[in-house]
Amino acid sequence: MVDAIVILDFGSQYTQLIARRVRELQVFSEIVAWDSPAAKVVAMHPRGYILSGGPASVYDENAPYLPEYVLQADVPVLGICYGMHAMTKALGGQVVGGGVREYGLAEITVSQPNALLPDRPQTVWMSHGDKVERMPAGFVPLAKSDNGLLAGMADESRRLYALQFHPEVNHTQLGRDMLHHFVLDICGCRPDWTPGNIIDTAVEKIRAQVGDHPVISAVSGGVDSSVATALVQKAVGQQLSTVFIDTGLLRAGEVEQVQQAFQQALGMKLTTLDASERYFTALRGVTEPEKKRKIIGVLFIRLFEEQAARVGNPPFLVQGTIYPDVVESSGTKFGKAERIKSHHNVGGLPSDMKFALVEPLRDLFKDEVRLIGEALGLPAALVWRQPFPGPGLAVRCLGEITPERIARLRQADAIFTGELTAAGLLGRPVHGQTTQLSQAFAALLPVQSVGVMGDQRTYQETIALRAVTTEDFMTANWAVLPTELLARVSSRIVNEVAGVNRVVYDITSKPPATIEWE
Ligand code: XMP
Repeated sequence: MVDAIVILDFGSQYTQLIARRVRELQVFSEIVAWDSPAAKVVAMHPRGYILSGGPASVYDENAPYLPEYVLQADVPVLGICYGMHAMTKALGGQVVGGGVREYGLAEITVSQPNALLPDRPQTVWMSHGDKVERMPAGFVPLAKSDNGLLAGMADESRRLYALQFHPEVNHTQLGRDMLHHFVLDICGCRPDWTPGNIIDTAVEKIRAQVGDHPVISAVSGGVDSSVATALVQKAVGQQLSTVFIDTGLLRAGEVEQVQQAFQQALGMKLTTLDASERYFTALRGVTEPEKKRKIIGVLFIRLFEEQAARVGNPPFLVQGTIYPDVVESSGTKFGKAERIKSHHNVGGLPSDMKFALVEPLRDLFKDEVRLIGEALGLPAALVWRQPFPGPGLAVRCLGEITPERIARLRQADAIFTGELTAAGLLGRPVHGQTTQLSQAFAALLPVQSVGVMGDQRTYQETIALRAVTTEDFMTANWAVLPTELLARVSSRIVNEVAGVNRVVYDITSKPPATIEWE
């Protein structure tokens, strides 16, 4: 069993970041809601707890509190921001509101040599209104901020630590060092959460789950479904049948890329269904975005059902669900988000189908999924692919979907993304590079405009280029691209793609726009 750190979530926007930082130290970490059943958390045998920040105030009615089992476990605990306040209250200290609020960067000075904080003045990220007024018995101050507030405290004999600032965010200069000290030195965790270990553990788990039963998987070429499928293949080999549905709405070279990844690189059997005609027929005359999405999603399920029947309706289905999809969260005051788009992907297969799910990536973040994919032998081009929506080019082809318009879009998209890849802006990030694009593509607009080409009047459609940078795809900024690159892409598209005489660049962030155009 690998060593684990449990992160108790009090509702901070940074909770997942804490988990990622711990994983970057190659130590397994798991987020649980602060009010999860004690027995469930204790059974994880954590080597230490981290208490996240959160939006509440410890004296609010029904405010989250530190459950008793955490302090009873006799393992190290690190409270961050609200976690510091919850720890203070649980141990009989005092937290007060109001007074000086600290938000943003602050300088701290370490006042007491200790095992957690590097001993020098440093910049940290603060975000709090409440503060610790009286520390619990046995605690000493570790550091104070330039505003004169308590920035950290500890009772090192009991291995209890608390920080008023956020070591997990990049703005905290030495935050990674602090987490390293806590996780590896104070908790004594072994750095055993490595790709090799993760794969071995997953393989064992899959074998235990499916026994000698058959399993079915649908791949889209997306990173998650591909890595999940490759893992299951490694675990149960011939018991797995894998289907790849070619919707006719994929990007240039994508069908061949997926076939090559699975057949050549992994030596797997892959059944490709060419369903493009069925998709184009089903989509004929449809222009409304939600209607397109629904049709594509329903047809995908039908095709999948047909294929499952052909291979004898296996009882197990592989899904590429990843950790951020399943993280238990402590429910903030915000309501459920409004439906902006009906998402469809191979992870969204039929809820009423009688499958037991095999979800080998449930514990992993996206970057871990990619490392595992590489370790399993999937080609880098697939593993480092940018996200691509389940409905494919259909949601980038505004207006009616026809084979001709999709071909036009596909060609323009290949020119744009090809130039970006050649410029090193898309694909596997080079270490230390920050200008990497998160997503970039072309959209075809059903807008005709007048142009002139070789003295001839033209009246043709428009290509919109979209390139964004984002951390989480919930918000995104449009990317500032080199002018020469834009010029080259524009001239190549107009010259090479028949039916397009104008290229525009989308300079809208999300919100108010979304990343995709439909
Ligand atoms: P939006 O357009 O909502 O997109 O800003 C956010 C991210 O989600 C991707 N996207 C999808 N992914 N199925 C998917 O698997 C879908 O139906 C879908 N629609 C949008 C989009 O490409 C972006 O990365």
